[in-house]
Amino acid sequence: MDSLLCFRNVNVLAPMVRVGTLPTRLLSLDYGADIVYSEVSVNVLETVDFVAPDERVMFRTCKKEKDRVVFQMVGYTQEPSLSAMENDVAAIDVNMGCPKEYSTKGGMGAALLSDPDKIEAILRTLVKGVSKPVTCKIRILPTLEDTLSLVKRIENTGVAAIAVHGRLKDERPRHPVHCDFIQAIAEAVSIPVIANGGSLDRVKAHADIEEFRKATGASSVMIARAAMWNPSVFRSQGLLSVEEVMEEYLKYAIRYDNHAFNTKYCLCQMLRDKVESPLGKQLKSAQTNEDICEGYGLQEYYKKTQAELQARREAIQTNHNH
Ligand code: FNR
Repeated sequence: MDSLLCFRNVNVLAPMVRVGTLPTRLLSLDYGADIVYSEVSVNVLETVDFVAPDERVMFRTCKKEKDRVVFQMVGYTQEPSLSAMENDVAAIDVNMGCPKEYSTKGGMGAALLSDPDKIEAILRTLVKGVSKPVTCKIRILPTLEDTLSLVKRIENTGVAAIAVHGRLKDERPRHPVHCDFIQAIAEAVSIPVIANGGSLDRVKAHADIEEFRKATGASSVMIARAAMWNPSVFRSQGLLSVEEVMEEYLKYAIRYDNHAFNTKYCLCQMLRDKVESPLGKQLKSAQTNEDICEGYGLQEYYKKTQAELQARREAIQTNHNH
């Protein structure tokens, strides 16, 4: 197995709804993150979707037609692969810590924490069914005893690692993280523990990551908000100014045709208390990635990248027609 995927001594970008889209993941990797988690995918329809870069659903299937559907592929490499989930990812994670209603209503997310039998069943099935490592991300339970009993059961399912957000289900992000719980978990299991929850009071820059790891006795550290505010938190040479980081972010957003609303959302998180600045106001009124570029003086970059993408589209079209 790839050494990074042992989940030991790695710095990890946490899963974050809306924030953890491709530009954030690529930028975090550039700055030194070892592993990046995608946002959680809430599959309300119980379908499998293959989605084009413009968010058009290209092919959606479900259990009911499983034995009958024929998926026709065209030959070139840009097409989604049928086993995309497994083949296009390094590992698969199960979110068992999300306290938001959309997860808990269906008995998923943090609701799972009170149903260890279900946790075990889900993880065992996944570990058996996929060829990639499976991990899971939990929050802690009200007592240490229950928490340790849960993580031991999780370990026994064969997962490759466990990420622990050191807060209770009902604790808010502003509450201090319980490093002592994470430490006890790290001592109780032999699989790697990835400590999470340190963004607000402990991790502000790269050097703090190692401090947080030591304080929790964990193998690795997973970072959410500190990376949302400034992904260069992963940079061993130190933080870059948020202005510089926003520019690099925007370049990725253009290159990968990120949805403009998502680009705006992520840039606003980086601006934080500067959303009322002239740049913040310009950003707020922008409707397209092109509009956003104006505020950052990246109009030329936008035009150049669009021309390159168009040339690639035409080349694919020509190949396809022959
Ligand atoms: C999150 N978190 C989260 N967790 C998860 O397992 N799946 C998800 O999709 C999300 N989405 C998400 C969005 C946003 C905007 C935030 C701020 C957080 C929780 C996150 O991964 C992490 O557990 C907590 O934020 C605590 O870590 P930090 O922020 O202290 O590093």
